Amino acid sequence: MSDGHDLEAMLARFREELGRAGDDKALYELQVRFLGKKGEVTGLSRSLGALPPADRKAFGERINRLKQTVEAELAARADALAEQARAAELANIEDLTFQRPRASLGSLHPITRTRRELERVFAGLGFDVLDGPHVESAQYNFDDLNIGPDHPARDMADTFFVEPPAGSKIGPGELVLRTHTSPVQVRTMLTRTPPIRIVAMGTVFRRDDDATHSPMFHQIEGLCIDRNVSMADLRLTLYRFVGAFFGRELQVRLRPSFFPFVEPGAEFDMQCPFCGGKGCSTCKGSGWIELGGSGMVHPKVFSACGLDPELWTGWAFGFGIDRMAMLQHGIDDLRLMFEGDVRFLEQFPC
Ligand code: PHE
Repeated sequence: MSDGHDLEAMLARFREELGRAGDDKALYELQVRFLGKKGEVTGLSRSLGALPPADRKAFGERINRLKQTVEAELAARADALAEQARAAELANIEDLTFQRPRASLGSLHPITRTRRELERVFAGLGFDVLDGPHVESAQYNFDDLNIGPDHPARDMADTFFVEPPAGSKIGPGELVLRTHTSPVQVRTMLTRTPPIRIVAMGTVFRRDDDATHSPMFHQIEGLCIDRNVSMADLRLTLYRFVGAFFGRELQVRLRPSFFPFVEPGAEFDMQCPFCGGKGCSTCKGSGWIELGGSGMVHPKVFSACGLDPELWTGWAFGFGIDRMAMLQHGIDDLRLMFEGDVRFLEQFPC
């Protein structure tokens, strides 16, 4: 050739290598070899100066065309390789409609939600919110609450007794899993000076297990101590609570009952929020729903806790939180609450 360079041969060599370049790295190396600063095509441009001026223009144009061809074929090969890789990837997927399952979001347990609402409502009524230990002394759980050694609640059949740690001075039968939240009354009276206005919420334990009883459940306890408080204050507080909790006016009634740590004692019911008192399946036709126990703090409890019963008056109440949550969510078997079955729990997204 007149210019001493065989561009056709160079292109042929390029194409041959291009056909062998199987990945981006090989393509890049090829690009450097032909189009890089020290590349073959670039080298041709540098030789232009050595040509007779008359031949330069035509040779320069040939170099440019070669350069464009090499660039275009490199790009086309890169596209083809990407296409192949994608096809191989897709061929490996068995089900193109497959979607990764959504990570499921957790939510608060219905009982936790009810607890938080109770907390909010009672805090709004001016109560401090407390909890106490689950492993409790029999003294606080029973004795100081005027539950004597012969009381049936102290029977092994009702109470979980806790074996005292080896080597401790605690005698057998002196430690229990608290059977109610009432020992928090004792703890509060021992550590605070009246006026006192607290609620205590938490887990309690009894040896019970059926559709309406679980060996582990939750209670809320209310305690108010001041001078000259009366059963009327108790009733008004319960009425205010029920109204705030259910968001509408519901009547509350007290029925005489017995608990060793109150005198007089009463069970309290609220008007059924589902039928408004007319009678339905939830209230079993009575129009009322039993909530829990209450009464005036017994003088013996004051004395056991170092408060002068001549000086102080007080009332207390206690009821189950789980029942409350069941009522709120229309759940009829208490055990569902504690089985941790996701199919049950996911019906209560936050
Ligand atoms: N502690 C009682 C129970 O578990 C409830 C109660 C609390 C009754 C306070 C009277 C006063 O059943």
